[in-house]
Amino acid sequence: MTTPTPNRAEPVLTDAESDVEVIHRQIVRELRDPEEGFERVPWFVWATVGVLVFWSGWYIGRRGGTFDTRTHVEYAQMAAPGATGDAPAAAGPVDAIAEGKRIFSANCQACHQADGKGVSGAFPPVVGSEWVTGDEKVLVRILLHGLQGPITVAGNTYDGMMPAWREALSDADIAHVATYLRQWAPNAAPAVSEATVKAERDAAAARTAPWTAAELGGK
Ligand code: HEC
Repeated sequence: MTTPTPNRAEPVLTDAESDVEVIHRQIVRELRDPEEGFERVPWFVWATVGVLVFWSGWYIGRRGGTFDTRTHVEYAQMAAPGATGDAPAAAGPVDAIAEGKRIFSANCQACHQADGKGVSGAFPPVVGSEWVTGDEKVLVRILLHGLQGPITVAGNTYDGMMPAWREALSDADIAHVATYLRQWAPNAAPAVSEATVKAERDAAAARTAPWTAAELGGK
């Protein structure tokens, strides 16, 4: 064993060979003995792991599709690579009209009726309504926050309460149902984008009260 003995006297130098030996023995004595056990994990490994965890969270949040199973249905409907022509071509990500119709049946039809003509004296029509085919921002505001008080629609006055949908429906839902209403014949107005809904939602984020027709610049 070469365990150095701290207080051992150095041998007297006799020639060059022992000189080398003495010098090396000194060097060995100065060095720390290697220890057994585990090394500490270097900081840059922790930093890399931290960055990866952060990035993964961001990625899932951004691209995870809120874990909605429909994201996979849509993927499954896409033609497989190399498939022959008999697979139906993907019809775009979402059919706004079909989605809008579904949302209307589920949330709006009870009041505005299946034919969109409303109920005389109680619920105004959405088909043939200048509020639906007019300024898209006004329509989006009505859907987000609701509407209260007197309003004239297609020449008839109503004085009721339209519920707010900002909690129940997403920006995409509201864009789809608005687009559906605007293209429900004989209505023929351009589609409403999700970005428009988001802009209106953000612009009136603090609002809790329903709009009045007068506030929206109508009668
Ligand atoms: C509880 C009944 C009720 C439901 C549900 C309802 N509305 Fe209304 N809606 C009304 C009433 C009442 C008014 C008129 C409010 C007023 O007179 O101030 C109105 C007004 C409107 C207007 C503006 C006037 C017009 O006819 O153009 C639009 C557009 C509209 N609703 C769309 C919708 C949509 C889209 C939904 C579903 C997401 C919906 N409503 C759900 C009762 C309802």
